[in-house]
This record gives sequence, structure tokens and C-alpha cells, in this order.
Amino acid sequence: MRMLGEDLAIDLGCSTTRVHVRGRDVTSSEPSLVAVLRVGREAGRVVAAGAEAAGLVGRTGDDIAVVPPIRGGAIADLECVDAMLRLRLPRASGLGRVRRPRIAVAVPRDLTNVERRAVEESVLRAGAREVVLVPKLLAAARGLELPQDRGPAHAILDLGAGTTEVGIVAGTHVVAARTTRVGASVLNDALRDFVRRKLNLLIGDPTAEAIKRRLGSARPSDSGESMEVCGRDLISGTPKTLRIGAEEVREALEGPVAAIVGLVRACLEDTPPELASDLRDRGLVMVGGGALLHGLDERLREETGLVVVCAEDPTRVVARGAAAFLAPGAARLGSGLTSLDAR
Ligand SMILES: Nc1ncnc2c1ncn2[C@@H]1O[C@H](COP(=O)(O)OP(=O)(O)OP(=O)(O)O)[C@@H](O)[C@H]1O
Ligand SMILES: [Mg+2]
Repeated sequence: MRMLGEDLAIDLGCSTTRVHVRGRDVTSSEPSLVAVLRVGREAGRVVAAGAEAAGLVGRTGDDIAVVPPIRGGAIADLECVDAMLRLRLPRASGLGRVRRPRIAVAVPRDLTNVERRAVEESVLRAGAREVVLVPKLLAAARGLELPQDRGPAHAILDLGAGTTEVGIVAGTHVVAARTTRVGASVLNDALRDFVRRKLNLLIGDPTAEAIKRRLGSARPSDSGESMEVCGRDLISGTPKTLRIGAEEVREALEGPVAAIVGLVRACLEDTPPELASDLRDRGLVMVGGGALLHGLDERLREETGLVVVCAEDPTRVVARGAAAFLAPGAARLGSGLTSLDAR
């Protein structure tokens, strides 16, 4: 039976698409990227997806473009997502072993009906027998193994690459939530902008990402660390290497970090006061790659008074949790965000 239809869960992230095979509890991850032909009679045809497309970044001429087809948690380019799923799913699920599986897809809660239907139809075209859309916050709660029935409420922050969601989850209900279509990739933009303005240096996104991971912090640090960054000098136009310090990086990131903190605070302000004691006891759990930003836990603790922890393996929690909604006898979705509602 299993050979014929292992259930899958997909987390269509802006930076990474994760496919979780429920029966085997494995998750595969590949960049949410496709390579598309730009010229000729076949313009628009997708020639590579995932890791293969990422390998082409910076190595193609004008004839091939590598594009991210998911933006702000929604499908920005339908044909590209279709192709990405068609190319990815057999690979993720063990080469043709899965025939017409049931597929759960984790989606942000602010998708419009049209955007939800686009996700659903794309996954059906990729070969699903049935599609269940699961709000990412509920998927995260399941992935974190929080109590399902009448347990205490928890606060969850999912800081992805292109979306930020924070919500108060009680059982299978999202009691209060805030969502923005801006995520941790905006930290890279802030860094690039800072380095251009203050150091007259143009840097690429991979350089900004490396600086963010190494020196990025949501709090002041007195480590005195610094690193070399290579870019193009704005004035001479030639390659140049400069040093950037941790304190400069913190200054560059402060605006977007304050916006993340503001979103969490706004969500807490929307939370019914009856849940205050739950939150005080249970605190806030962070998931998503942005949760790995140094000092974010402590900064949020200082500004909200809650206990803040980063989930173990924070980028996989959502895919794993979405799969749980396909288990026999899985709790029905309290927030009513199911595939049927989208019709
Ligand atoms: N150590 C780190 N410090 C800061 N940011 C990090 C770190 N590691 C990863 N990130 C950031 O996490 C983001 C990716 O997180 P994640 O994989 O959860 O996003 P996603 O699921 O693809 O996007 P979304 O959920 O918004 O659709 C990227 O912006 C990446 O730069
Ligand atoms: Mg995500």
C-alpha cells in the first residue's frame, strides 16, 4: 500500500522548497529556483530546477535566467512553479515510487483565495490525488509537537526568507497572528545598502548573506569581530576588499530587526488577555532560517518579557508538521484553511 502512495508535505518557501515524505520521515531541501530559457522559439521553457538551477547562478549568459518563482510566500510565476514541482517531486519521493500521493502544502495565512487556488492547482497538476493546504503556523505547531487538544497557547515566530509570520496557537486554532511579505532576506538588502552608502562598495547577495550569518546580530555585541568583504568600488569601478565590523553590521540590520520585533509586539497586543498566563509559562518559539540570527532570541526576550527559544532544526519544522495533517485521524483544521475552503 505504502509503495503506491506515500503522503508528502511541501513547504514552498521563498528561498527553499522542502518536501517531506511522511511514512519515512525524511525531508529533502532544494533552493526555490528555476532556470528559464530567455531567447529563441523555446523562450520560457524551464531547463533546470532546485539545486541544479542554483548551480547556474552567475554562470549563464543572457540566454538563461535563474529566477525565484515564490515571492512573499505566494506563487509569482505559475509555469515555473509547475515545472519546479514536476522536476522535484519524483526526486524527493524516491523516483516514481509515489503514485498520486496526497499532498499537504504549508502556506502563509494571508494568501488570497486566488493565490491559494494557484498553489492547489499547481500541486494537483504535479500529480497529487488530493491537496490539503495547511497554515504554516499550525504546521509549525505540529512540527514542534505542541499539544493539539486544549493545551496551553504558544507564541510561534516563523522568520523565513520572504515572509514573517507570528501567531498565538492554541491546539489547532490560530488565536491571533500577524504576517508580512518581508522576511530575513530584507536583512541582506539592508546590508548591501549600508555597505554601498557608508563604504562605497557594491556587494552581491551571497556576500551579504555571508556577512549576515557570520557577524549579523540583533543585539549589540562587544566581540570586536570583523571580516573582509570583497566587492566593486563604487567610484573606481574596480574590485576592492574592505573590512566590516560587527558593530557596523548591527547598525545596518537594526531597522529590519526592529520591524520584526514590532510585528511580534503587535501580535501580542492582539492576544486575548486570558492567554497571557499561558504565554508567560510557554513563551515564544522561533522557527525558519531567520531564527538563527545571533541575539534575536535575547532581543525578543528583552522587548516582550517572554521566554524565547529557537526550535531545534528550525527550517524543517514546518514541512514535518504539515505532513502530520495527513495522518489517519489527524485533527481537522480549526482555522478552516483547507483546500475545500479555497473553492
Ligand atoms: N545563521 C543565520 N543568520 C541569519 N539568517 C539566516 C541564517 N541562516 C539562514 N538565515 C536566513 O533564513 C532565511 C531562510 O529561511 P527559511 O529557509 O526558513 O526560508 P523559506 O522557508 O525559504 O522562506 P519563507 O518561509 O519566507 O517562504 C534566509 O533569508 C537566510 O538568509
Ligand atoms: Mg518558510
